[in-house]
Amino acid sequence: MKAELLVFPVLALIALFADPSSSIRLPDRTPAFTASDDRRPLKTAVFALGCFWRSEAVFGCLPGVVRTTVGYSGGSALNPTYKRIRDHAEVVQVEYDPKIVQFRQLLDVFWTSHDPTEVFGQGPDVGDRYRSIIFTNGTGETRMAAVSKEKQQAKIRSNIVTTQIQELGMFYAAETEHQKFELKHNPQLFQLLGFMPAEELQRSSLAMKLNSYAAELCPPDVQSRIDAKINNILDKEWPVLKDI
Ligand SMILES: *[C@@H]1O[C@H](CO)[C@@H](O)[C@H](O)[C@H]1NC(C)=O
Repeated sequence: MKAELLVFPVLALIALFADPSSSIRLPDRTPAFTASDDRRPLKTAVFALGCFWRSEAVFGCLPGVVRTTVGYSGGSALNPTYKRIRDHAEVVQVEYDPKIVQFRQLLDVFWTSHDPTEVFGQGPDVGDRYRSIIFTNGTGETRMAAVSKEKQQAKIRSNIVTTQIQELGMFYAAETEHQKFELKHNPQLFQLLGFMPAEELQRSSLAMKLNSYAAELCPPDVQSRIDAKINNILDKEWPVLKDI
């Protein structure tokens, strides 16, 4: 993974998206992450940008993003659920390798992936649970978030950016059925993973990436690369996808 940094200086979003070397291997039935992967110092970021099914897919195809989990944050009620989210928002928690992608770049993706001027939801998703929030951990991130919000506001001008910036409090993981939702709702694609227990599915970077592919939220070149890979597998009648 380190080589990626050298080959592709991550300066622009395009470079982030275009990185073809971020393929993820899922060795047979062993967990998606080896012990050495787990020792990598990962960082965590949390964003609210509308329906969390889509939010998860927005971040899942970015090089450097290792794991995504949808959940609830931003409110003060205890133990929110999908049916009783109360004062929380739908969020995605993004675990990333800071050597490959930085908080600043996640912010860029956040801004370009929803309409931060909408007041009570996103498009057809209406309600306070779909509000726009950047969660921060520490003054450094809070400052970066504030600066990026000012830039966004300067760009948009005619409308008010409603995005809130909030120190991250509790994150409650959502129910299993909401994790990798886009992938689960594409049975043909899901089948390509072979049988994967829920817990492994949750930790698998391959499943995370396929979830973005299912939502057509990988960049076009990555979408077509995965298309080709899948067609190739189907041609060979070898029905289990090992990497993309
Ligand atoms: C906040 O950052 C510190 C170190 O910078 C880290 O130890 C801690 O786990 C982070 N908290 C969250 C909720 O990510």
